[in-house]
Amino acid sequence: MTTVSGTEGYADEAEELFRLYESIPAADAHRAVLHLIPQAPGWVLDIGSGTGRDAAWFAAQGHRVVAVEPTDAMRIPAMALHPQPQIEWLDDSLPDLTVLRRRSETFDLVMLTAVWMHLDETQRRRAMPSLAALLRPGGTLIMKIRHGPVPVGRRMFDIPAEETIELARMQDLHAVLNGRTESSQERNRLAGVIWTNLAFVRAGS
Ligand SMILES: C[S@@+](CC[C@H](N)C(=O)[O-])C[C@H]1O[C@@H](n2cnc3c(N)ncnc32)[C@H](O)[C@@H]1O
Repeated sequence: MTTVSGTEGYADEAEELFRLYESIPAADAHRAVLHLIPQAPGWVLDIGSGTGRDAAWFAAQGHRVVAVEPTDAMRIPAMALHPQPQIEWLDDSLPDLTVLRRRSETFDLVMLTAVWMHLDETQRRRAMPSLAALLRPGGTLIMKIRHGPVPVGRRMFDIPAEETIELARMQDLHAVLNGRTESSQERNRLAGVIWTNLAFVRAGS
């Protein structure tokens, strides 16, 4: 079986990552972007949804959620941990999101939390048009991108915000947020991990 690129290291550490990710309330993890999350119930796409912590949080706010997660060792236990019927789980992956794109659905909010930096430059160029096509007019794309030491066994790139903003601009996605925050995980904070928070809105309403 081939490993989806970007997922290296996750299956081996899944058990520990469930403890870690689920110990941080989603509202704390997303404090910097809370104002950009739609208040009215809508359609949310969470790509690289990991343990499903955020998918469950969105579902609790009344949203319908498609949670895309290619690592079986994350997705299968996540489905059991967060069985809300408002969440649909998909085994699919960036850059092409082949399964999802076949359905021609669009979303009010597309979230990529701690995922974009797993793609190399060629993959990022390929992925951005897919992300734009998944957004409804007026919809929001939020990306949280990690910088700093790379955990052993993971595949990660240090991505300048300007590159992502330019890729988005080419797809008519307008930047509404570009800021840096420290990590909400103590272990990462001590290791010097910081995050770029980007958000884009697709023109139209
Ligand atoms: C750092 S975890 C973040 C999980 C979750 N978004 C969170 O913030 O708790 C990154 C997740 O992205 C997934 N991932 C890695 N490469 C991916 C790709 N090419 N397409 C989609 N997801 C990917 C991994 O399997 C992993 O579950």
